Amino acid sequence: MKKKYSNVRGTIDFSPQQNFIYESLRNESIKLFGCYNYQQLILPLLEEKSLFIKGVGQTTDIVQSQMMKIEGKDIVLRPEGTAQIVRYYLQNRLDKKNSFCKFFYIGPMFRGERPQKGRLRQFNHVGAEIIGSNSFYLDAEVILLALKIVDSVGLTKKELQINSLGCEDDKKKLAKYIKERLKKRKSRLCTNCQKRIEKNPLRVIDCKRPECRKIVKSLKLNKNHLCPDCLNHFNNLLSILDNLQIDYKYNPYLVRGLDYYTNTVFEITSSQLGSQDALGAGGRYNNLFNQLGGLDIPAVGFALGVERVILALDKIEVKPSPLVFVARAGSGLEEKAFSVLTNLRNSNIVSACDFRKKSLKAQLRYGQKIGSNFVIILGEEELKEKKVILKDMERSQQETVELGQLITILKEKIKKYA
Ligand code: HAM
Repeated sequence: MKKKYSNVRGTIDFSPQQNFIYESLRNESIKLFGCYNYQQLILPLLEEKSLFIKGVGQTTDIVQSQMMKIEGKDIVLRPEGTAQIVRYYLQNRLDKKNSFCKFFYIGPMFRGERPQKGRLRQFNHVGAEIIGSNSFYLDAEVILLALKIVDSVGLTKKELQINSLGCEDDKKKLAKYIKERLKKRKSRLCTNCQKRIEKNPLRVIDCKRPECRKIVKSLKLNKNHLCPDCLNHFNNLLSILDNLQIDYKYNPYLVRGLDYYTNTVFEITSSQLGSQDALGAGGRYNNLFNQLGGLDIPAVGFALGVERVILALDKIEVKPSPLVFVARAGSGLEEKAFSVLTNLRNSNIVSACDFRKKSLKAQLRYGQKIGSNFVIILGEEELKEKKVILKDMERSQQETVELGQLITILKEKIKKYA
């Protein structure tokens, strides 16, 4: 028997409808990145494993269990873009050229996770990084930009959650507090968290297991671990968001699953998604350059998960551009149909025709099936008078129009349609 192939677990095939959302997310984000003056970077899918061990953190889930290794090499399929951009910046000594940089990237990431809804082994990021400044205005900029991108594809229902981990010293203080408070209840935590408590107590806060969540909630986390400078940074950022009337939820339990964060961390969540509800996330990482290259360079950024945006949008109707279908009432009208189509397409009107030898009725049925909003019927009698029939499918209206006026009339109708 022949083997039946299907896509690899943890990957998805984009249907044309999903690809339509992906393209619109891509196009809208490229427009917005341009407006905010970011430059695009396209970096390889392959990177050295140690970049992420050092960058993302030895005890993180990504490094512990999710790296997709290339057999026999110290090379992995990149799990995320931030450490990679830092590598690019350091490798090209951008600190010596144009130390303040704003980059964006769009492309696939790989994590060998246990697949579930919204959690894939291959997924795409739309991300951005601002390198070279500790200004809280830039924390606000990346948050605004991430929200605007999500908005631009019609995802209006979402929540912004925000927290501050503080500087390295603050993080140590927070870790110490968590460790001390959890020591007594260690045996009630999952076996993973029992190890995490010693090696990286902040990771316990992130654990999704119910038994750990219950204990973590009792920790009464707040801003007390923040030093005056970091508290000031965070309060200033929140004031900017308040002034801009951006809704947010301060969540002191938001620590993020990557170790490089300092100060601001945020997540944009959607109730349309299941347990994997983050559409995107980001934050500041003022120590990553030091960890990877010994330079003190502050930075902030975010990444949106394309597939999660698509999942959340799947439930919302996405309207593609109105489609005009050209049908022939009679044989031998293919050449005329081709010429009308060419004119429509030269005027950027989305149009289609069924060139198979089919009756008018069958052509119209096909036109309806592909979701045509307007139908042009070419008939011999009308064409003799340089006219065609134009049908508005939604309004069930039909009129005979001059061929020379067709494009102008259609453009006007399409404008009203949108
Ligand atoms: P992250 O939270 O690991 O952050 O990923 C960002 C987003 O990618 C998530 O919020 C989610 O939407 C999506 N995502 C993550 N893992 C998966 C998966 N297995 N399947 C599907 N979607 C997924 C980062 O990667 C940071 N580099 C973000 C950042 C940029 N921070 C600063 N700059």
